[in-house]
Amino acid sequence: MRPLASRVVRYHERGGPEVLRIETVEVAPPGPGEVRVRFVAGGLNPVDAKIRSGRSRIVLPLPVDVGREFAGIVESVGHGVDGLAPGDAVFGSIPQGAFADWVLAPAGVVARVPEGVPLEVAAGLALAGQTAWDALASQGIAAGETIVVSAAAGGVGGILSQLAVRRGVRVIGTAGRDNHDWLRAHGVEPVLYGDGLRARLAAAGPDGITAVFDQAGAETIEAALALGVPPERINTISTDASAYGVRNVGRGAVHPPTLDALAALVASGDLVVPIAASFPLTEVREAFAFLEAGHLRGKVVVTADATDDAERPGPTR
Ligand SMILES: NC(=O)c1ccc[n+]([C@@H]2O[C@H](COP(=O)([O-])OP(=O)(O)OC[C@H]3O[C@@H](n4cnc5c(N)ncnc54)[C@H](OP(=O)(O)O)[C@@H]3O)[C@@H](O)[C@H]2O)c1
Repeated sequence: MRPLASRVVRYHERGGPEVLRIETVEVAPPGPGEVRVRFVAGGLNPVDAKIRSGRSRIVLPLPVDVGREFAGIVESVGHGVDGLAPGDAVFGSIPQGAFADWVLAPAGVVARVPEGVPLEVAAGLALAGQTAWDALASQGIAAGETIVVSAAAGGVGGILSQLAVRRGVRVIGTAGRDNHDWLRAHGVEPVLYGDGLRARLAAAGPDGITAVFDQAGAETIEAALALGVPPERINTISTDASAYGVRNVGRGAVHPPTLDALAALVASGDLVVPIAASFPLTEVREAFAFLEAGHLRGKVVVTADATDDAERPGPTR
């Protein structure tokens, strides 16, 4: 196994999407417990835009290689990797550097993509899905409860809402008008966010709201507290939970059994993760600009744009 030349999305200074560049690096062969994956598609996440623009408490040393969620084809496996082999379609999430021709990842953060699930869809499933799964699990939600999910058509909110509906939970989801029909089609009762949210939530849940999952920020949390939802039953992943005394359960470690379960739901049609927009890797700036505009349904993805492997950077020696 040899190092492979690989394009990678990287930035050397903080700022808007314009600071993103595509550079060439060398990707080592997989070490013990690792897999090297030929990138097919990757899912964008708002946290990377926040870190890049300096709006996050997370400060990464420059330069920063971009991209967490990916899907692709295993090219080689390191010593000690069981159950994965070259040619397997996989998806997963790493802390950074996934938007590259070749992705080196611990085998413990990837899972197989089942038959019938497009790699573009799998690409946006790992981080958003694990986050939704863990947040929902943290509240022990039972059938018959009425919950509120903010940004219910977004990457995390869209998955969380559908998982809750499948459990027999009544889900009230906040979204812009353009997403209301889509939410209804997936069993979620839409409510418009913005001024008057508290009154609309009170009207939608007259018998009480038992838990709130926030993906959008202060407005939802303040409305929930005003409606008497106990702080320990409010979870936010989008703002400082301690400022409100609410909970902040987000993504734990990416856990292959959870990824398997999520992918199986997608394969069976019980979980739908729409592609809001898809861009070739060379247009990663445009992809982030689209994400950062803030109004979308599902996931924004970037895809490998080489038309065949002959055009892809290959072995370096
Ligand atoms: N802590 C963690 O583990 C973790 C993990 C993942 C994400 N996050 C954070 O969670 C948040 C959501 O992530 P995501 O990937 O789901 O984001 P996303 O997919 O980019 O969310 C987009 C959605 O937000 C909705 N939206 C925009 N403005 C809104 C408002 N004022 N009120 C309610 N909804 C609004 C949009 O709805 P319309 O299009 O209908 O307007 C759109 O569907 C981000 O802040 C992200 O950084 C945290």
